[in-house]
Amino acid sequence: MTFDSVLITGGTGLIGSHLSGKLAARGHDVKVLSRNSRFSVPEAIDKSVESKIEIIAGELDNRQLLEELVNQSDIIFYKAASVGAAGAVENAKDFVENNLGATANLIDVLRASKHRVKHIVLGSSISVYGEGVYNCAKCGLVRPPLRYKLEKSNGSWDPPCPTCGSAITPADTTEDSERLGESTYAVTKKAQEELMIGTCKLLGINLSVFRYGTVIGAGQSWHNPFTRFLELALAGESPILHEDGKQSRDFMFVDDVVNANLAIMDKQLSGINVFNVSSGDSTALIDFATTIATEMGTALNKKPALPTIDGKFTPGDVRHCHTECGKIAAATGLTPQRNLSEGISHLVDWFVRKKRVAGNA
Ligand SMILES: NC(=O)c1ccc[n+]([C@@H]2O[C@H](COP(=O)([O-])OP(=O)(O)OC[C@H]3O[C@@H](n4cnc5c(N)ncnc54)[C@H](O)[C@@H]3O)[C@@H](O)[C@H]2O)c1
Repeated sequence: MTFDSVLITGGTGLIGSHLSGKLAARGHDVKVLSRNSRFSVPEAIDKSVESKIEIIAGELDNRQLLEELVNQSDIIFYKAASVGAAGAVENAKDFVENNLGATANLIDVLRASKHRVKHIVLGSSISVYGEGVYNCAKCGLVRPPLRYKLEKSNGSWDPPCPTCGSAITPADTTEDSERLGESTYAVTKKAQEELMIGTCKLLGINLSVFRYGTVIGAGQSWHNPFTRFLELALAGESPILHEDGKQSRDFMFVDDVVNANLAIMDKQLSGINVFNVSSGDSTALIDFATTIATEMGTALNKKPALPTIDGKFTPGDVRHCHTECGKIAAATGLTPQRNLSEGISHLVDWFVRKKRVAGNA
């Protein structure tokens, strides 16, 4: 089975730009369907392979256009979405309509047209888990609910054991952990997963669901809250972190994410497979923001503006993300290549170059 013709929906975004460049370099014919007609990371596309990529500026809910593209494709990397939990708080309608309406359109096309699509790789998110799995010394593995009210136990921001109220620590959240995410974004990702799983089972299409951690790298969206850390560091201003700054996220670098997408295509896995595509590591936001400030200080030869803490709390915010990523490593033979400090230095470098070109640094 070969995948000569590739469709990437949302392929001009962060993950899509890097993936398009790598696929074209490997000789695939790449079609990118995206709202934006330009790559957010043009430098991810080597000039010598530009002719292998066609960008079609359009909407995923354009039935006729989607049908034409699907009918020419062997594999679809489905990356188009309204992205990020924070944005969905103010724009629930947009997130639900876009993420689910577009998925529904793809399903209709897959069911109605005579296509040859053999594999779909769906970009989902570890936000589907909500608070994830924790360990309680008395009760074992537990699932605390999301924190909607501020109930600090023993002075800690961590959720308490939902059974006995003791202090608990993050444990590995695996692919078969129940998906307890309740944010609008998480709910759209859960529904996308279910809609695609049912459809691919019905139609006999192989499906890989990739639950990404927080993906960062050159080209990340200006709406990404972590891009804000870069903006502040560049301006010599301290980022202000909520809670005690020790809330953690699983940061994954875009090149590792792209490698996982390529590897799963090469493996030609059959059936429905769900993977955490994450680093398996969690990093406190204060450490992340401090590293960005320090790297920026070094890049600009300035004193870094270190983060401060305001002790505020956003109801419903996940406290810790701690996922197990052994399944994707076993399936592909890959482990993330970039460590956090190396990845951040790469990110800072990209950001400073971009701002210098724009005359802002
Ligand atoms: N970046 C992350 O940290 C992260 C984390 C978890 C999951 N994901 C998932 O991975 C996928 C890709 O993320 P990304 O970071 O590359 O996002 P991105 O925002 O950089 O790119 C998404 C692209 O999709 C396009 N798009 C959105 N809706 C569209 C529509 N209806 N029709 C056509 N184009 C549309 C956007 O214009 C954008 O170019 C998304 O499904 C996202 O939910 C990303």
